[in-house]
Amino acid sequence: MSKIPEHILNEIQDRCDIVEVVSSYIPLNPAGRNFKALCPFHHEKTPSFIVSPDKQIYHCFGCNSGGNVFNFVKEHEKIDFIDAVKMLAEKTGVKLPEYRQEKGEDSSLVSTIYTINDIAAGFYSGLLIKCAASTDVRRYVEKRGIEDEVLKKFRVGYADSSWRSLADYLTQRGIKHEMGLKAGLVLNGKDNSFYDLFRGRLVFPIFDVRGRVLGFGARVMDDSLPKYINSPETIVYKKAQHLYGLNFAKPHIREKGFAIISEGYLDVITSHQYGISNSISSLGTALTVEQIRLLRRYTHKVVMVYDADQAGEMATLRGLDLFLEEGMNVKIACLEKGHDPDSFIRKFGPRGFDAAIKKAKNLFEYKLGILKEKFNTDEPEAKAEIVKEMLGTINRVRNAVVKAEFIKNLSAELSIKEEAVWEELKKLGKGNRMSFSYAQGRQATGSRGQETKRQVSISPAEKILVRLMLEDASVVDTVKGSLQPFDFKSPDVRHLIETLFSFNAEGTAIDARRLINYLEDRVSPHVISFIVNDEVRIKDKEKNIRDCINVIKKENKDRQLKDIQGRLSLAQKNGYKDEAKDLLEEFNRLLKTGS
Ligand code: CTP
Ligand code: MN
Repeated sequence: MSKIPEHILNEIQDRCDIVEVVSSYIPLNPAGRNFKALCPFHHEKTPSFIVSPDKQIYHCFGCNSGGNVFNFVKEHEKIDFIDAVKMLAEKTGVKLPEYRQEKGEDSSLVSTIYTINDIAAGFYSGLLIKCAASTDVRRYVEKRGIEDEVLKKFRVGYADSSWRSLADYLTQRGIKHEMGLKAGLVLNGKDNSFYDLFRGRLVFPIFDVRGRVLGFGARVMDDSLPKYINSPETIVYKKAQHLYGLNFAKPHIREKGFAIISEGYLDVITSHQYGISNSISSLGTALTVEQIRLLRRYTHKVVMVYDADQAGEMATLRGLDLFLEEGMNVKIACLEKGHDPDSFIRKFGPRGFDAAIKKAKNLFEYKLGILKEKFNTDEPEAKAEIVKEMLGTINRVRNAVVKAEFIKNLSAELSIKEEAVWEELKKLGKGNRMSFSYAQGRQATGSRGQETKRQVSISPAEKILVRLMLEDASVVDTVKGSLQPFDFKSPDVRHLIETLFSFNAEGTAIDARRLINYLEDRVSPHVISFIVNDEVRIKDKEKNIRDCINVIKKENKDRQLKDIQGRLSLAQKNGYKDEAKDLLEEFNRLLKTGS
C-alpha cells in the first residue's frame, strides 16, 4: 500500500506525461488519439500496447498489463511501487515527505474497529468459558463434540439471549455506540437505543491471515432459522476476501503442499481438532476469485470437499472452474451422501477423511462422472452435450500439455475422434466465454511473476457503465439512483463503484489515473486501464446507460434467484420443510419484483 499522500502522487503525475515517460523506454507510434507500441511485457509481432495521453494510462490488449505512469515504471524497472514513485519524483523535482505511516482518520478508524472486534471476541468467548456445563450452549458444544482446546484456539464464544449484553459491555469499556455500529456488532433501535446483533447464538470470530478479528458468524443452537447470522460488511470486513482458518492453516498448507477447502466453520474446526490442519473454508458456497488469489500465496494445490448434496455439487463445479481459471491445481474429494467434512470426520475419523482426500478426483474424473450419470452416452446428442460441458471446463486449464491429455481421455471415454473434440474446443475459443474473461494465451516474459496473460473478467454492461462514470461525473448520479455497489457482480467493480460513489458524495472529481493510486491495494491497475481504454464508441449514451443498468439489475436478480434455488434444493434434500417454505416464498417474492 502506498503511504505517500495522494496529493503528492497527483503532483508528480501532473508534472510528467505518460507518453514522454513510456517513450523514454520504448518507441511509440501515433495512432489516432493514442500511441501504439509493441508491448514490452510480452512477446508480440503486432502492436497491442496502447498509451492514452488523455487518460494518462497504458494498457496492453495482448497480455492485459496496464496502469498509470507509476505502474509502468514499476513493471519496466522491476521495482516496488514506492521506488517507482521516488524515481519519478526525482525526475520531476517533487519533494517527497519523510516516508512514514500517515495516521489519518481512516487508519485510526480501522484500528479502532479491529480493537472493538477483538474486545467482542474476548467478551463472547469469556461468556462461553464461564457457562456451566448444564447450560444450553455448553450442551450444544458437547453435542457437536468440539473440544475445549480447539474452542479456545478459534475463540469460539457465546452470545446470550439478552438484548444488550455486548452493547453494555462496550459502553463499560468506554466505546461509543457509533463505533459498535461501525463494527457491525450493535444495531440502532428505537429512540436512540442500541441492541446486539448476535443473541442466543454460538459465535465464531472470523480472522484475517494475521489472526486479527474481522467480523463474526453466529449459529443458532437448534433448528430454528436463520441458521447463521453474519457480521455485515464493514470497513475491515469484506466477506469475499477472506478464508476462514487460513491464519492457523497457512504453515501446514506450506508444509503439506496443499490446502483442503470446505464450506463451513465447523468443517474447519473439526478438521483442526483432528490434526487435519491444512483445512480452510470459504464460508458458504460462493467461492470468489479473491479468495483463490489469497490462497495462491501459500499453495497452488487444493482439494475441494464441499457438502455432499446438490448445492455442494453445484458449488463444486463452479469452484472448479474458478480454480482452473486462476491457474490452480484442483481436485475434488467426494463424501458419502448427506455428509460434510465435520460429520464425516466424526463418523469415519481422521483416517477415513485422509483416505477420502487421497481418493480425490481430478476435474476430468469428477465432472465426467456427474455428466455420465445425467446423460445416456450411447446417443450422439448426449455425447455432444457432454463434450460441450466438459470443454467449458477443460478450456480453462492453462497448461497445454494437461489440456491435451484431458482431450485425449475425453475422446477415448466417449469413443469419438480426438479431432472432433479439438474442433469443438476451437469453436469455444472464439465463443462467448472469451468475450468475458480474456484469453489465457502466450507467455508474458517482461515482468516478474507474471507467467500468463492476466485475467479480467467483467461483464460488458459493468465495464461500459464504469467507463461512462469515469468519463462523466453526472453518470455517477444516475447510477447511484438505481444501483448499489453490491448489485455488481465483479468484486473489482464493486470497489470501483463504492469509491466513485463516495467521491461523488464529497463532490470531488476522480479520474482513472488517480483511481489507480487510490485503490492500489484493492483493485489491480490493469483492471482499471482495461476498463477505461475500451475503444467501443458509444452512440446513444443515455440509452446505453439505461440498458446497462437494466442488464445489471437483471443479472443480479438472476444470480439471487439461482442462489435461492440452490439453497432451496439443499433444504428440500435435507427435509428442512420450514426453511424450504421460506425460501420458496423468498423466491416468488423476488421473481415478482420488477427489475
Ligand atoms: N453460511 C452462512 N450463512 C447462512 C448459511 C451458511 O454464512 N445462512 C455459511 C457458514 O459459514 C456455514 C457454511 O456456510 O458454516 C456452510 O453452511 P451449512 O452447511 O448450512 O452449515 P454448517 O456450518 O455446516 O452447519 P451445521 O453442520 O452445523 O449444520
Ligand atoms: Mn454443513
